[in-house]
Amino acid sequence: MQLCFATNNPHKLNELKNLVGRSILLQSLKDIGCSAEIPETGDNLKSNSLEKAAYIKNHFNVNCFADDTGLEVDALGGAPGVYSARYAGEPANSLLNMKLLLKNLDGIKERTARFRTVITLLLEDNAPVYFEGSVEGVISLTENGSEGFGYDPIFIPNGFGCTFAEMEQSEKSRISHRGKAVAKLVNYLNKPY
Ligand code: IMP
Repeated sequence: MQLCFATNNPHKLNELKNLVGRSILLQSLKDIGCSAEIPETGDNLKSNSLEKAAYIKNHFNVNCFADDTGLEVDALGGAPGVYSARYAGEPANSLLNMKLLLKNLDGIKERTARFRTVITLLLEDNAPVYFEGSVEGVISLTENGSEGFGYDPIFIPNGFGCTFAEMEQSEKSRISHRGKAVAKLVNYLNKPY
């Protein structure tokens, strides 16, 4: 089965390529000839992921899925959440986002947080199907590690003494928000209809 992953993020595409298995031929936006900046105007992860997947389905008529992810920090009332990509303003910049988050948590002891991902799958003319994954952790005091992307250098998953950016990609994927949501997606796709 061919399936397009509606993302412009090469890190995400790389993560996914290692997760979906051989029965699914993952296509990038480039593979389907899409170079557009896909709109993301929702106020929650589910509507954003649906908006991204629907954009690709409507413009390119291919089976596809999209994800949307947010980092929810308890001491900040769940911020940056759905606004994680542009937390420090436009244009989106991961380094500035992390610096602002660390500044806003300066002196705060309670640093619990979670990544949450929602994936929307659009197959043929079927109704959208949603898959969710999350991972609990804490925000570190400083940035550590050079693997991964986004907020990885400041997120320490529970049960680990290092950030996502200090882990091998395969280890991150095994426990991560997106890894869990993708496992549910793959399980669904491999079920007989
Ligand atoms: P989006 O899902 O691509 O819209 O991502 C929202 C924000 O979360 C962006 O700033 C991403 O860099 C960040 N983000 C998404 N997934 C991850 C992840 O696995 N690790 C760290 N940051 C992430």
